Amino acid sequence: MRHYSLTAPAKINLYLEIIGDRADGYHELAMILQSINLADKVDLHVANTQTIRVFCDHPEVPTDESNLAHRAAVLMASNFPTAFSNFGGVDITVKKRIPVAAGLAGGSTNAAAVLVGIDLLWGLGLTQSQLEELGANLGSDVPFCIGGGTAIATGRGEQLSPLPSLNNMYLVLAKYKSLAVSTPWAYQSYREQFGTKYIKNHQDFNQRTKAVHGAEIVQAIAAQDVGGISHKLHNDLEKVVLPAYPQVLQLRELFGKQPEVLGTMISGSGPSVFAIVESKEHAETVKEKITVAINDSDLELFVTQTIGHGIQLETGH
Ligand code: C5P
Repeated sequence: MRHYSLTAPAKINLYLEIIGDRADGYHELAMILQSINLADKVDLHVANTQTIRVFCDHPEVPTDESNLAHRAAVLMASNFPTAFSNFGGVDITVKKRIPVAAGLAGGSTNAAAVLVGIDLLWGLGLTQSQLEELGANLGSDVPFCIGGGTAIATGRGEQLSPLPSLNNMYLVLAKYKSLAVSTPWAYQSYREQFGTKYIKNHQDFNQRTKAVHGAEIVQAIAAQDVGGISHKLHNDLEKVVLPAYPQVLQLRELFGKQPEVLGTMISGSGPSVFAIVESKEHAETVKEKITVAINDSDLELFVTQTIGHGIQLETGH
């Protein structure tokens, strides 16, 4: 086949705990990641050249070598040089629906789609864990984005343990279009403020990482208890992102005041904020109320829901 079209869903963090510094300069994390049905479409075409090209309809998404989707294709070409010279280059077209620089893994899920798509395009037959291993070279969230669903992520975020699928939990997601938070900035600010409290002893470090498996929110997920999940949401990065971004804090507080909202939190390093609700009707009501209350065309709101998968093939021919 010469063309594949894939769906690349966004993720939210139901839980993000920063444990300490790693030797590689990253942070040791304990997270719970969740795919949602807000998704980009990624098309891959065999090009009759030896070049990799990225096309995107979003003005803020670079299409050069810095684009993570481009880097994913380069990684595949360098790992599988024979397939690359046999099949030639790839044209990658990304139709963006996921807000950019929002803490929703938009770039990571595009890269994950490119790994899955090129594996199909070149008939490599890689396993999911081989794809995840390749993905870890591109970014901490890329491995999760491949299989998606609901999972505990530890280490840099690349060590995954699947959790029972949390299907059809309704959410309202909000993002100011003109606001972007740099993830390196958020982690660096956290380190500057809380670094002295980081766990340094190796044994405590491991214990803390393992503890997430028994956390109350994990039990609530296993029981499909939406109320329990909503009460146990946690994200350490809120401690640095909310004080630095008053608009995000205001949005978060406004969500929290709505009687329909069961729980609210920023996703990843923000600035997107999500709110968990009981039903689609409640989601529509909350979306409407927030739209009226904030009354700013810069604010984008989505009604979305949790899904049990990551990258999915739409068509191939
Ligand atoms: O892995 P990724 O490129 O998505 O990470 C973006 C940035 O977030 C890193 O450069 C680092 O500053 C920070 N980060 C971290 N610890 C992690 C994951 C990300 O400090 N486990």
